[in-house]
Amino acid sequence: AVPEIDGAIAPMVFGGRGEGAGADRPMSCHTERAAMLAERVHKMVSLRRSKLADRKIAITLFNFPPNAGATGTAAFLGVFESLFNTMGAMKRQGYHVEVPASVDALRKAILEGNADQYGADANVVARISADDHVRREPHLDEIEKQWGPAPGRQQTDGANIMVLGQRFGNVLIGIQPAFGYEGDPMRLLFERDFAPTHAFSAFYRYLREDFGADAILHFGTHGALEFMPGKQVGLSAQCWPDRLIGGTPNIYLYAANNPSEGTIAKRRSGATLVSYLTPPVTTAGLYRGLMELKSTLQRWRQLEIESDERPALEELILAQAQAVDLNEQDVGKLVTAVHELESTLIPHGLHVVGTPMSEDARKELLQHVADAADGREIDLAHMDAMLREDHEIDGLLRALSGRFIRPVAGGDLLRSPEILPTGRNIHGFDPFRIPSAFAVADGARQAALVLETHTKASGSLPETVAIVLWGTDNMKNEGGPIAQALALMGAAPRFDSFGRLAGAQLIPLETLGRPRVDVMMTLSGIFRDLLPLQTKMLAEAAWLASTADEPPEQNFVRKHSLAVAAETGQTLEEASLRVFSNADGAYGSHVNQLIDSGAWTEEEELANMFTTRKCFAHGRDGQASAQSKVMKSVLKRVDLAYQNLESVELGVTTVDHYFDSLGGISRAAKQAGGQDIPVYIGDQTRGKGQVRSLADQVALETRTRALNPKWYEGMLQHGHEGVRHIECHLTNTMGWSATTGQVEPWVYQQYTQTYVLDEAMRQRLADLNPKAAVKVVHRLLEAHRRDYWKPDKATLEALERAGEDLEDQLEGIGMENSRVGVAA
Ligand code: BEZ
Ligand code: MG
Repeated sequence: AVPEIDGAIAPMVFGGRGEGAGADRPMSCHTERAAMLAERVHKMVSLRRSKLADRKIAITLFNFPPNAGATGTAAFLGVFESLFNTMGAMKRQGYHVEVPASVDALRKAILEGNADQYGADANVVARISADDHVRREPHLDEIEKQWGPAPGRQQTDGANIMVLGQRFGNVLIGIQPAFGYEGDPMRLLFERDFAPTHAFSAFYRYLREDFGADAILHFGTHGALEFMPGKQVGLSAQCWPDRLIGGTPNIYLYAANNPSEGTIAKRRSGATLVSYLTPPVTTAGLYRGLMELKSTLQRWRQLEIESDERPALEELILAQAQAVDLNEQDVGKLVTAVHELESTLIPHGLHVVGTPMSEDARKELLQHVADAADGREIDLAHMDAMLREDHEIDGLLRALSGRFIRPVAGGDLLRSPEILPTGRNIHGFDPFRIPSAFAVADGARQAALVLETHTKASGSLPETVAIVLWGTDNMKNEGGPIAQALALMGAAPRFDSFGRLAGAQLIPLETLGRPRVDVMMTLSGIFRDLLPLQTKMLAEAAWLASTADEPPEQNFVRKHSLAVAAETGQTLEEASLRVFSNADGAYGSHVNQLIDSGAWTEEEELANMFTTRKCFAHGRDGQASAQSKVMKSVLKRVDLAYQNLESVELGVTTVDHYFDSLGGISRAAKQAGGQDIPVYIGDQTRGKGQVRSLADQVALETRTRALNPKWYEGMLQHGHEGVRHIECHLTNTMGWSATTGQVEPWVYQQYTQTYVLDEAMRQRLADLNPKAAVKVVHRLLEAHRRDYWKPDKATLEALERAGEDLEDQLEGIGMENSRVGVAA
């Protein structure tokens, strides 16, 4: 039963059959769970019946990582503008809510207020004394075991736990405390995360019991509650998300394109999702040097082949290309490269709940949807009508009144226009039908493209490919990447007579027409949680290939499994394990957290973190066990690593998860095998699909996004949060340098040029979000220290001065002199 994937809310186990055989097993009620279910229903009914004027709503924002200018940011969302619109609508509906005069005033009231006085990241709305906490925390022992005596070290003044946020009448805007292990490498090594911090538990208790929230609204994708320790499904009273949310209705404003993590929020924290749109999509266009290059290229193309102007123009073209770090000597190829840059699709700005996109943005978006449709019929008139008006505020208000929110499968705007109108409860695709017939056919094509790309570059077919599999893209495109992994091994899904996925089968070698390629699969924790049938199927495929009676030169899976067994002394069953993920209840490799905090010295540490966290191999029976030896033996045979892009909205430099997983495995493969491996990105977001090297992908994203005025002005329109998003792109870029060493040095030089040496820009960033602005400068200096680029002396000095200057501003000193003299 997969109620949350079908669109239901608050799935709960409240009984079942006990031990014993067959029909004799008694059906019994789990009394504690039944009581919790009753409490949840009761609270939902009370919410519906409560008077608007008396209703108390706690709205939760996020703060991850802490102290980095990230407070109150969320994926794709202009949080404070959206919050402002939502509060206004609540007031008009009859809530008792004090709405500040402007978005700025709202942001200041939450982020500034008395923050300085307490040395906190935001306004302190309440302080909980250690005594009070000790008296009221029912799970104190568990927390103290991991975090030490109350009140702990996170978000305290030594004597009290601070609750961050601000009260606006009956609406309390609270800031969710961070996980707590940021910047602490030893703690990061835990396979499992045992308990939330004192501050985290106290925060939710405060919302439930002290403030007395009738409902909690989590505002934007995504926070930490639903990733707290506990079971993956069928949560019990021992599971932290369940303890923290208790019986309180949980409403979650969630990006429409993320059904996989959204499903975790439903499954593990009883959330009702209300979807929001991702930002409009636009072509990147050209700017500055790229524009000049294009116009010279145009002149060149108009010349006769014989024209004696050609050599001089070609010289100019190569010089102009060099000036924008395009080191291509072939003018024809430059034409193609510039065209790709100009026409690449990028997300534009951030989405604001309650403010429909501009007419121009809407028209352009509709055009791109029509282009992407590729013959599929699309009711553009309907889309147009849906995009003209906001439907999200209405969804939120209904949810906050305990009303029904219509379900819809989550997806990308470009490929799945059915996600409109937003403001609905997103869910996933029927897992019994993954991978679909379409995915199987396309997966074979994409796998062939990867093999072809690598063979062209290296001269031979790879024997082992490492692929990263996520839940999101597989749930949105019916299992495309899963089908790629199967195709590489020469396997296919097997369905039962009801058409439900039942396992894997091998495609005969004659049909396959090439050797079976070995595949090391790394699953995100989310994939593991959401797609258990597919996890077993992939393990079965590797096992079938390993045990097939075929010559090793035609079956690299078998060839390697035999070698791994001999090398490690493990059984063939164990040596055939290829599906790796986290320990139960844990997510991510934490390489991203090492990078963000800077708390690492050698790249080896990143590899160790990855292999420690991700060494849990899933067998044919779906069970996982720690298999470090097998993992290392398989890893050293990896010839290339790749992952597919998920959507236009999400580039490999947009979020830290790509380098956390694909970067992490590349670094681990290098550690095991002793040399760098090629890293590829499969991009099927447009047309028939294409494979790029990681270096090319990062360069493309850097040029079309981070360095592109169209992109960064779109971000900076949203002020504080825009700066944080810019900083994220830089940090993620450095994550790729650290994990793969494959980022070209000019990337950092150009970031420096654009955001630091341009004095007006630097000051703008500092005014909008001083913490994130300082982080930009520090990150560039860190990239230099770690040898990812070599600035010249003047640039380095200017960077150092900018860093000191921005820090002074952050500390409020030297205000008079701060605006002069950094760009030497
Ligand atoms: C997933 O859907 O598997 C996923 C989503 C975001 C980050 C990492 C993994
Ligand atoms: Mg995430």
